[in-house]
Amino acid sequence: MSPPPTPGSFRRASAFALEGDGRNFDGAMALVAAPLAELEAAAPGDLAPEEAALLTERLAPARRQSLLIGRRAAKDALGLLAPELGRRDIRILPGLFGQPVVAMPGRTNVQVTLAHADGAAFAIAHPEACPMGVDLERFVPAHLSALQEQTTAREREAMRAAMPGDEGQRLLLLWSLKEALSKALRTGLTVPFTLLEVNHLSPVPGGVTAQFANFAQYEGIAFAAAPFVAAVVHPRLALWPERDGGAVPVKLRDWLGALATLG
Ligand SMILES: CC(C)(COP(=O)(O)OP(=O)(O)OC[C@H]1O[C@@H](n2cnc3c(N)ncnc32)[C@H](O)[C@@H]1OP(=O)(O)O)[C@@H](O)C(=O)NCCC(=O)NCCS
Repeated sequence: MSPPPTPGSFRRASAFALEGDGRNFDGAMALVAAPLAELEAAAPGDLAPEEAALLTERLAPARRQSLLIGRRAAKDALGLLAPELGRRDIRILPGLFGQPVVAMPGRTNVQVTLAHADGAAFAIAHPEACPMGVDLERFVPAHLSALQEQTTAREREAMRAAMPGDEGQRLLLLWSLKEALSKALRTGLTVPFTLLEVNHLSPVPGGVTAQFANFAQYEGIAFAAAPFVAAVVHPRLALWPERDGGAVPVKLRDWLGALATLG
């Protein structure tokens, strides 16, 4: 089987503030893509020693790439919240459940959520007070029936109403929203999929917003730009500000479109 395509180099990052409960929650997001050779060359300047130790010789190239591209996205986002720090001052190490745990000198309240898809990665740095989760997926036609099996008829119907068009893309949006929720919860996909059920969807330009049957305290937003889908889950009380063209992270939608043109 031939390996999945790797997009060329791509790097976007931007700070944002969610608003809710009378407070602002400062965050930053980054969407990146790079070939493995570029990431390996940058690794000595990018990784703290404890992170470099994760890159053992036994790791397959695909895992080396995902580890490196994920940390590039995470550090691009974290660096916007702590511009005084060098990239090697920021450590992102796996917790007991595989979740990324951030350590940065002088900061105690910042975490990151990240996802990779082949040679691309998406990350959001966020305050612990505002738990978030992200996902990034690349559509693979062979996964269509598996994606179908992981949705209920009610979800598929709601998605059809919110987003007419390609079914594969719709199913991937649903999957991606649930995976992003599972990361915000720190469970990952160890819980029954039905627990992560989406029960309400509304169309927004380029994607959908979502609510969850069993986690009403969270809200999701997902965008599609074939072959990619990206999702963000955040507390329902913390809203994207009504600036820059609407209450959704329009930058993410636009970046995803630009990434998709790279293949
Ligand atoms: C979390 C999970 C859904 C990620 O799915 P995936 O398709 O493999 O990968 P993605 O690219 O979307 O995301 C990977 C990132 O999710 C993050 N992640 C992993 N487990 C996580 C968790 N429990 N909570 C939040 N984030 C998690 C990591 O940062 C990981 O990237 P990294 O390993 O390079 O740091 C999946 O790994 C999972 O279900 N894990 C369950 C926990 C588990 O089985 N752990 C094994 C050790 S106990």
